[in-house]
Amino acid sequence: MHDPIPTTTLIDGRAVPVLGQGTWRMGDERARTADEVKSLQAGLDLGMTLIDTAEMYGNGASEAIVGQAVKGRRDEALIVSKVLPSNASRDGTAAACERSLRHLGVDHIDLYLLHWRGGYPLAETVAAFEALKKAGKIGAWGVSNFDVDDMEELLAVPGGKNVAANQVLYNLQRRGIEFDLLPWCQKRGVAVMAYAPLDGSGLLRNPDLVHIAKAHQATPAQIALAFLKTRPGVISIPKTGSAQRTRENREAMDIHLTAENLTALDHAFPPPRRKRSLEMS
Ligand SMILES: NC(=O)c1ccc[n+]([C@@H]2O[C@H](COP(=O)([O-])OP(=O)(O)OC[C@H]3O[C@@H](n4cnc5c(N)ncnc54)[C@H](OP(=O)(O)O)[C@@H]3O)[C@@H](O)[C@H]2O)c1
Repeated sequence: MHDPIPTTTLIDGRAVPVLGQGTWRMGDERARTADEVKSLQAGLDLGMTLIDTAEMYGNGASEAIVGQAVKGRRDEALIVSKVLPSNASRDGTAAACERSLRHLGVDHIDLYLLHWRGGYPLAETVAAFEALKKAGKIGAWGVSNFDVDDMEELLAVPGGKNVAANQVLYNLQRRGIEFDLLPWCQKRGVAVMAYAPLDGSGLLRNPDLVHIAKAHQATPAQIALAFLKTRPGVISIPKTGSAQRTRENREAMDIHLTAENLTALDHAFPPPRRKRSLEMS
């Protein structure tokens, strides 16, 4: 029996579990497709209902895997996809959304993000997002890889205050956002989606983390995810193509780190003391 996954509330009032699932590199190898679909379905069964994908991932192949995973259970899932900045003009965004809907085999995307900032004016992309929302093609919209100055600019354009989420690189090893971007988002009710929460698995061999995990009879991945759970308004989206690891990641939500554990983690992975430029992967 698991503790329920805690939720955070988006600005539109929707409650979202703080542990979801990533899909980057899914769909790249046909031989892995069945396991990837099973892994996402295992996550849905366990309440990891937010699934993150993007038109960029495998040129729609990852969206197609998500489509297979949610077939017959669309209502259980909260699908996040992203438009490439090179497509993010007023008309280009609408066309990209239609393509993503086709790849996914669904009639709406719950949360649609601008993947990173590009050449089109933010006002144009936001106008496209708002029109898609009105048409029922998306539920809410957000951004990705936006630092504080980008967020300030975004809020100044018409409709910009409707931004629901900012998806950024955030894990124990890359805590730069804790200095400014994270509190900025928390104050304004903008959800922070932590991508690469395991640092693409690079974090998992860190000897300090391994040591802390052993003391907790947990795995390093579980401690990394349990740490992110302690940050209000943060949704982490680990990717795995293995149903067994999905279960392991889900069990991280049953871990309650103590103040002593958090001090040990701060010692091993010091929080930022000054502004750092937003990192991307
Ligand atoms: N917005 C952006 O610019 C952006 C950038 C990067 C990522 N993302 C999103 O964020 C998601 C997560 O980031 P990510 O995929 O880069 O990195 P990640 O989730 O930190 O790490 C994924 C890696 O960790 C492994 N893994 C997962 N669970 C594990 C466990 N319990 N124990 C050991 N290894 C485990 C996976 O291997 P297996 O699959 O073999 O299990 C995979 O190699 C992406 O999939 C994507 O949806 C967004």
